[in-house]
Amino acid sequence: MPGIDKAKTAPILRAMGLSRSFGGLHALQDVSLDVPRGCIKGVIGPNGAGKTTLFNLISGSLKPDSGTVCFEERPIQGMKPSRIAAQGISRTFQNIKLFHGMTALENVLVGRHRLGRAGFFGGMLNLPAAGRDERMLLDRAREAIAFIGIEDVAQREVSGLSFGHQRAVELARAIASDPVLLLLDEPAAGLNMKETSDMGALVRKIRDRGVTVLMVEHDMSLVMGICDDITVLNQGRKIFEGAPDAVQRSAEVIRVYLGEVNAEDSQP
Ligand SMILES: Nc1ncnc2c1ncn2[C@@H]1O[C@H](COP(=O)(O)OP(=O)(O)OP(=O)(O)O)[C@@H](O)[C@H]1O
Ligand SMILES: [Mg+2]
Repeated sequence: MPGIDKAKTAPILRAMGLSRSFGGLHALQDVSLDVPRGCIKGVIGPNGAGKTTLFNLISGSLKPDSGTVCFEERPIQGMKPSRIAAQGISRTFQNIKLFHGMTALENVLVGRHRLGRAGFFGGMLNLPAAGRDERMLLDRAREAIAFIGIEDVAQREVSGLSFGHQRAVELARAIASDPVLLLLDEPAAGLNMKETSDMGALVRKIRDRGVTVLMVEHDMSLVMGICDDITVLNQGRKIFEGAPDAVQRSAEVIRVYLGEVNAEDSQP
């Protein structure tokens, strides 16, 4: 059946000709990329290459000057972030954004609700009075916490947690909303080697759960180890796209980025 084949093979996300400037600075210029369903796709490039801007355009926190973003074959560019999130795109942030003064579980619950609904926490945390929906949300949040493997810190206030745990809480919050596509902006930033390798296993586990992943990351062992396909940005433009081994062999990518990263890695 051609219809079914098309649904299976169509990219889950297709960005076409995305551009965005800030004043005179072209942060992203005519960038197109497809994210195949069920993959882990990487986005790499030097600082300021436009990686986070790309994520902001996909998730709706920024509007493109031109270009389109189709999610599940429907245009989403220009929509509000909440509407895009409601369609199944969830994200984490380069600079962890957690609510201090709240526990890990409470932070994950926030992912299930849009902020600003008066009385939400009162209702949510007062379990005997909580309605069926609220209990269901709480179950989902607990399930996400168990899936990520951080049950032991669920009741702890997040500012007292290690960086690795804080990143894990953000990840649990992102998957608690049951995304179809997850955008991870530097999930291993600030993590040590063991935490980075745990993060890699976690991202694979999320993909195996059926969530497609688009990931910005500077840690090349992580990127090359888990990505099926990688887009390379430099100064707002896409300069290469391909499988990890092809990226590592590209003279242009080595010149503008990998040479620099490898030199950093080999320093004592
Ligand atoms: N809101 C903004 N206002 C002005 N300039 C911005 C804004 N966001 C990004 N930029 C600029 O756009 C360029 C691309 O930034 P972006 O954050 O997308 O890069 P990046 O690839 O994510 O870099 P990094 O690896 O350092 O996170 C940079 O020069 C940055 O200073
Ligand atoms: Mg960035």
